[in-house]
Amino acid sequence: MRVTAVLLAAGQGTRMKSNLPKVLHPVAGKPLIWHALDAISRSTTEKPIVVVGHGADEVIKYLGDSAFTVLQQPQLGTGHAVMQAESLLKGKTDLVVVCYSDMPLMRGETLQKLVETQKNNKGPISMLTVVADDPRGFGRVIRKADGTVESIVEEYVATADQLKVKELNVGGYCFDANWLWDALHRIPKNPKKGEYYLTDTVELATKDGLPVQATLMDDVEETIGINTRVHLSDAEVAMRRRINQQHMLNGVTIIDPASTYIEVGVSIDMDTVIMPNTYLHGKTEIGEGNVIGPNSIIRDSKIGNHCKVLASVMECAELEDYVDMGPFARLRKGAHLGNHVHMGNFGEVKDSHLSDGVKMGHFSYIGNAQIGANTNIGAGTITCNYDGEKKHNTKIGEDVFIGSDTMLVAPLKIGKGSRTGAGAVVTKDVAENTLVVGMPARAIKKLEPKIKK
Ligand code: UD1
Ligand code: CA
Repeated sequence: MRVTAVLLAAGQGTRMKSNLPKVLHPVAGKPLIWHALDAISRSTTEKPIVVVGHGADEVIKYLGDSAFTVLQQPQLGTGHAVMQAESLLKGKTDLVVVCYSDMPLMRGETLQKLVETQKNNKGPISMLTVVADDPRGFGRVIRKADGTVESIVEEYVATADQLKVKELNVGGYCFDANWLWDALHRIPKNPKKGEYYLTDTVELATKDGLPVQATLMDDVEETIGINTRVHLSDAEVAMRRRINQQHMLNGVTIIDPASTYIEVGVSIDMDTVIMPNTYLHGKTEIGEGNVIGPNSIIRDSKIGNHCKVLASVMECAELEDYVDMGPFARLRKGAHLGNHVHMGNFGEVKDSHLSDGVKMGHFSYIGNAQIGANTNIGAGTITCNYDGEKKHNTKIGEDVFIGSDTMLVAPLKIGKGSRTGAGAVVTKDVAENTLVVGMPARAIKKLEPKIKK
């Protein structure tokens, strides 16, 4: 059976007060529309269709080829929005799942249940409902005595009795496609707002004498819809809790989940401990038995096993195993630290490879360099890699001892087993097993003593 999703994302999202289209606001590092597409992916068989309108260009650009898009212009309501997909879909699908794109906590399993309900439904519609004390402006679900749904009544037209109904329309539907296209043309224009409401299809089915089934959701949290930035932060908190719980169930220790920010798409293996105030962003992969944080920010990076990352920042960088890093270390794009590397406080590494066992304890900058195994980088060492126009490379062999405060003026090669004296300014290649020293300080004049006896 062919099942296709139509996601509605044409609305303006006025209450977000933002230049960014609502569905592109992120939760746990991914836009709302990403969450909607992710949830729907498992219960559909065809490429989804996103109905765009406000901010269409930006949304289309973001979607790339992950979805087809249709433009709804002007926006005349949710029913009108689904109509825009008719020409693309008619005759090409058996079921149509319609979802609003601003419910990032909706689970894939919930939508799967909805589709299953419709597969067993003799009528043309199945819909998601939830029972909640706070109606949040949702439409009320009016059931018939036999349990099927009679109609959905929007809050602003509901009678006092209807307002008391606690079962709410969540905004997720599965339709029989053949029935849907015809029904959409039969929706009456809403006299008050001049819009075509998708919810009116329920009443049409009832009038046709066809049953509408409801799938009652048990987790109200999944139905948090984003209309303002307050809702956005509510969803962020709920999503963070959900993600952290999943990692904990997978064997990761999280000391303080409330201050641990792990984005969707981060992977962490068993027995790793995440300390408080740690941010794991993007496509980050972390192996086993590591201690990450406190106070660390890691983006798009890879960490092997048994590493320590204390109060440090990594971006597009890689650690192999048993690396000990921080506090206050920074790895930038292309930094790669081998096994047992030690990188202490206030160091920065960019586009460089530090081979196994390299020690770089304090205050150094290493850029565009390859450093051989077991080499020691003394405090305050700088690779002077930039001449104002171009970046140049530094290559240091294994077992080298770079003295404190050495300036390595690139392009430069230092052979294995060599040493540089403290404060050396090295401008020429150094052969293997060679000691170089630079400009030792010499006396220039005698100074008057400052403190008079
Ligand atoms: C809708 C439902 C309501 C339900 C609630 C759940 C209708 C008439 N009402 O109300 O029963 O309880 O959602 O959140 O459907 N959109 C378009 N084009 C349009 C209008 C809307 O694409 O012309 C999109 C919006 O971008 C949004 C979604 O449809 O993603 C829902 O629209 P919205 O105006 O927020 O509907 P509600 O008033 O919340
Ligand atoms: Ca809404």
